Amino acid sequence: MSITPVPDAAVIVVAAGSGLRLGAGAPKAFVGVDAHTVLWHSLIPILGMRRAAQLVLVVPPGLEGEARTEAMDAAATVAAAEGADGATDAADRFELVRIVAGGATRQDSVAAGLRAVWPQVRTVLVHDAARSLTPSEVFDRVIEEVERTGAAVIPGLPVVDTVKRVDAAGAVGDTVDRDELLAVQTPQGFRRDVLDAAYAGASAQYTDDAALVAAAGYPVRALDGHAHAFKITTPADLQRARTLLGERAAQHAPSPQPVRSAQGEHAPALAAALTMRVGIGSDVHAYAAAGSTRTLWLAGLPWPGERALEGHSDGDVVTHAIVDALLSAADLGDIGGLFGTDDPAVEGAHAEVFLTRTRRVLADAGWAIGNVSVQVQARAPRFSPRRLEAQAALSALLGAPVTVAATTTDGLGFTGRGEGIAATATALIVRA
Ligand code: CTP
Ligand code: MG
Repeated sequence: MSITPVPDAAVIVVAAGSGLRLGAGAPKAFVGVDAHTVLWHSLIPILGMRRAAQLVLVVPPGLEGEARTEAMDAAATVAAAEGADGATDAADRFELVRIVAGGATRQDSVAAGLRAVWPQVRTVLVHDAARSLTPSEVFDRVIEEVERTGAAVIPGLPVVDTVKRVDAAGAVGDTVDRDELLAVQTPQGFRRDVLDAAYAGASAQYTDDAALVAAAGYPVRALDGHAHAFKITTPADLQRARTLLGERAAQHAPSPQPVRSAQGEHAPALAAALTMRVGIGSDVHAYAAAGSTRTLWLAGLPWPGERALEGHSDGDVVTHAIVDALLSAADLGDIGGLFGTDDPAVEGAHAEVFLTRTRRVLADAGWAIGNVSVQVQARAPRFSPRRLEAQAALSALLGAPVTVAATTTDGLGFTGRGEGIAATATALIVRA
């Protein structure tokens, strides 16, 4: 695909929010859904629209570089999926992308995006990155409807619940006729001159762009939204997105074929058809000798002041067990095969190096990480005060939930005697 003529439509994707309600410890757009982020998923349908559009990506200040990597990867993925001339096609698509820093409110972020829209653009769509799974066809329909009617166009779904008015004291008033209600989504589409004028004159904050445009006196029309255009706001929404992607992956899974694996060619064909696999991994490191200057690294965190573990790498048994569990689930060997004990990259390396490379190797093999669960056996350090911090750090690196529990072993065995620390991990992976 070559992008000529220059597109006369643009999609502004606002992704500059902090995701407080999701509470994932990172800006929402950069939280992992599977092997990919909320942002990456939001770009795929836009890059796959029937008609090429400029794509203005509005991200938290300072994360422009990360956004660029996500956009390039998404462009390459869409190009590869459409089976066109790989590299050139991905580069052509990436040519359409502009990345700008967002503002303190969503409205400020849209305004920043609007300033980056190319002069020849006539129709502008504004879309929440958090509605990542919105299908391409919704974008195409919104653009066509704006062009056909000249009005602002917003997708929405009927309200299915009974809706009542309630006052501040909790007293319930009348029931609102739900036939008159619409649960509004994005992308919302506008004539470019209308959106420019409405934003130029905006004197208040509105909850969506259509409200701002309506307040400026322009007509707004509704069209059918899509159930998959829901907004990822809370952890439950993120889980819904994961489930949906899992179902999509299962539908597109390859039909059973002989397995080419370390288990030989005769492994049952059923294994090839599996859309989920589990793996287990474990690791043990001895405590460093008294007086060692090493720092303890455990579960992706440094533990200054605690007795360190011995090892060529950082000795982080939790991370190493996770790598083995993931590699074993994907039938990709083990940590020694991936990193090698004398690999200079591993000397002093921490979870970031191990987990990022493992995640990449799995993604290359077509696997996304479902979740990982780890148990640590250690007399020291006391793990529970930093459990949530460790889980957040490991989950961010893998883009999937990691849970870590710790146990002492009642004084029994080498962990009980305080000779070292052991960890066991299980992992679930799903076809990406
Ligand atoms: N958004 C933005 N700039 C802001 C605030 C929000 O670009 N200053 C974007 C978000 O990234 C998101 C969309 O607007 O894609 C909808 O906002 P919301 O779901 O509220 O996301 P957040 O503001 O990130 O989440 P929260 O309100 O829970 O912090
Ligand atoms: Mg918000």
